[in-house]
Amino acid sequence: MNPDLVQVATVADCPDNSVTIVTVNNKDIALCRYEGAFYALDNRCPHRGGQLGDGRLSGCDIICPLHGWDFDIRTGISRYNHLDSVQTFPVIVKDGAVYLNKADIPLEPSEPEAYLAKWRRPFDDREESMNFIHCLAGGQKTKLEPMVTGRPVPKFDSFLFLPGQIASLSLLDDEPVDASCVIGPNAKRPLRHCANASTSK
Ligand code: FES
Repeated sequence: MNPDLVQVATVADCPDNSVTIVTVNNKDIALCRYEGAFYALDNRCPHRGGQLGDGRLSGCDIICPLHGWDFDIRTGISRYNHLDSVQTFPVIVKDGAVYLNKADIPLEPSEPEAYLAKWRRPFDDREESMNFIHCLAGGQKTKLEPMVTGRPVPKFDSFLFLPGQIASLSLLDDEPVDASCVIGPNAKRPLRHCANASTSK
């Protein structure tokens, strides 16, 4: 047996159409079983670092539990946006045991003393806002601004407006508009506020 193979589960541990998180080289991996076959992919969602292994399978897509991004477990590519993807890793199943190959999986540094310890991931450092939150939580102050993203932000020209069919036609300029507001229309003495005068009856 290849010494780089690490047993991460047994087949019996993994019900069909389920996902679980395993760790190899300090890296969390979402291990999926779908229609009897096994798939492994990086546990961290590239959107905001959600744990895909806490998500759910929808057919052969894994759905991130935080904001619903989807990734095909066979390729790691998002069906919604093909530019978004997570790394996949080969899985070996032998004699009822499930293995991953250490040599396939990048080593993640273990930082037992750092804030969040082993839950902290280098991915977090790509997001300045996450870094800022970690610094605050660790009692440090930084000059970083929260809510900054390293991802490209769409420009106004990127938006495409599609006219939609509306159920009723909008009013023409010369048609009267009732701008009054009635508070308690079913009350004995409802209050009516008119656009240009305030009256009650
Ligand atoms: S963190 Fe995964 S969809 Fe937002």
